[in-house]
Amino acid sequence: MIGAGEWGKNHVRTFARLRGATLATVCDLDPDKLAAVRTEYPGVTTTSRYADILQDASVEAVIIASFASQHFEQACLALEAKKHVLVEKPMTLGPEEADELVRLADRAGYCLMVGHLLLYHPAVAKMKALVDGREIGDLFYLYSQRLNLGRVRKDENALWSFGPHDVAVAVHLFGDEPETVTAKGEAFLQKGIVDVVFVTLHFPERKLAHIHLSWLDPHKTRRTTIVGSKKMVVFDDMEPTDKVRIYDKGVDIKPQAVAYEDYLHVRFGDVLIPHIGSSEPLRVECQHFLDCVRTGNRPMSDGRQGLQVIRVLAAAQRSLDLDGAPVPVKG
Ligand SMILES: NC(=O)c1ccc[n+]([C@@H]2O[C@H](COP(=O)([O-])OP(=O)(O)OC[C@H]3O[C@@H](n4cnc5c(N)ncnc54)[C@H](O)[C@@H]3O)[C@@H](O)[C@H]2O)c1
Repeated sequence: MIGAGEWGKNHVRTFARLRGATLATVCDLDPDKLAAVRTEYPGVTTTSRYADILQDASVEAVIIASFASQHFEQACLALEAKKHVLVEKPMTLGPEEADELVRLADRAGYCLMVGHLLLYHPAVAKMKALVDGREIGDLFYLYSQRLNLGRVRKDENALWSFGPHDVAVAVHLFGDEPETVTAKGEAFLQKGIVDVVFVTLHFPERKLAHIHLSWLDPHKTRRTTIVGSKKMVVFDDMEPTDKVRIYDKGVDIKPQAVAYEDYLHVRFGDVLIPHIGSSEPLRVECQHFLDCVRTGNRPMSDGRQGLQVIRVLAAAQRSLDLDGAPVPVKG
C-alpha cells in the first residue's frame, strides 16, 4: 500500500481484514501516518521508501492512494516490478499516460484496476440492472451532484477530484463514451484551481449527462437522477437507508390519440424503494480486485475503463480552459 492518508487508510483497514490477502507493507512519507498504522496493525511493516515494496518479491499487488500527480509513475514502477496494481482515481492526469499504463499492464500480463468506487456501490449496480433490463425504458438523460464544503485541494481541481466518480457512472450506465463534452467552472479560492464545475457529456443519439461538482457548497450532496422513457430513478447516497427510489412516472406518447391533449399522457405512478443490501462499496471493490488477481479476469473498472474516464476528464478540462466550448472526446 502506498499512501495511507485520508482515503488510503480506508484501503489499509479493508485489506487488513479481507480474507485471502495479507497486507504486508504500508509506505508513506509522513512518519505519523506510519506510526498510526503500526499501532493499529502491529503485523504490518511500514516504510517511507517505495523501493522497499517494489523490491520485495513476496509482494504480489500494490494499492496506490498517494497524490494524483504520482499515480502514473508509481503504477508504472509497480507493473515493471511485476506486481498487480489497484490505483486510486484519477488514474493519471492525462490520456497519454493512461494509455501507456494500459499498454504496460497488457504487455506485462498483470491486473490494472482503477478505484472507481461507485461502480461497486450496490445502488449503482441496481441502476445498471434497471437500465440494462430496460425496466426504465430508454435511458434519456441523467444528472448528478457531488457537492461539499471542503476539502479544498491544491494539487487537483474539483473536476479531477470529484469528476472521475460521476463520469465513470455515466459511462457505465450509458454503456458508451460521450462524443463531446462542455464544461464551465470558476476558481474563487485559489488562482487557477476551479472550485465549482458544471460538466455536460453529450452521448450518441442525443443522450445527455450533466454533472455538478463543487467543494464550495453549503450542502453535502451525493445524488444521481436517471430519467428513462418508462421510469425515473434517484440514488441519494446521503440517505442512511432507502438510497434508491424508482418512480413509475413518465410521459407516454399515444400516436393514435384523436384529441391533442391525449397525445402526451403524463403518468404519475407509484414510488418503489428496492432492497439493495448494505455491502460496503470499498470492501466490494477490494474483493473484486483480489478475485481478478486470482482468476486473471478483467476488473469492471480496468485500465481501459480508466482510460475512457481520463479521456472524458481531459476533454472537460480543455472545455473549461476554452470557457465552455464543446470539445470532442476522441481526437
Ligand atoms: N475512491 C474514492 O472514493 C476516493 C476518495 C478520496 C480520495 N481518493 C483519492 O485517493 C488519493 C489520496 O487521497 P487522500 O484524500 O487520501 O489524500 P491525502 O493527501 O490525505 O493522502 C495522500 C498520502 O500519500 C502520501 N504520499 C504522497 N506521496 C508519497 C510518496 N511518494 N511515497 C509515499 N507516500 C506518499 C502522503 O504522505 C499522504 O499521507 C487521491 O488520488 C484521491 O483522489 C479516492
